[in-house]
Amino acid sequence: MKKITFFIIISTAWLWCDASTLYLQCAECHGSHGEKSALGKSGILKGQSVSQIYTQIKRYAKGKQNSYGYGSLMKMQVARLKDKEMKELAEYIATFK
Ligand code: HEC
Repeated sequence: MKKITFFIIISTAWLWCDASTLYLQCAECHGSHGEKSALGKSGILKGQSVSQIYTQIKRYAKGKQNSYGYGSLMKMQVARLKDKEMKELAEYIATFK
């Protein structure tokens, strides 16, 4: 049982480390804790739920979201991400308080 707990802690830390690295490229516009409105246009990421963030990232990647006229700019940011990375990013961003 102890071994399993240890494994879970390590793998969670690994996942977090990974997502926080991915988020570095988003931080420039969205703020290091998702507190900024990107280019003074976007909604604030902080406070949004995992599913809200994931759905939006997914829609941007497919070119289906354009809330403030910058959908194509966001598409460039996320189009190359794998689905797993989008989920991890969403889970990471949703921890911003
Ligand atoms: C060059 C600046 C820039 C970078 C870098 C960037 N974004 Fe954005 N983001 C924007 C802009 C501008 C919008 C508004 C787009 C629109 O018109 O719909 C936006 C919108 C969003 C939204 C929707 C927010 C809302 O509720 O309105 C999410 C989620 C998001 N970005 C996630 C990310 C993630 C994750 C990354 C990193 C992989 C990222 N962004 C990188 C500029 C950026």
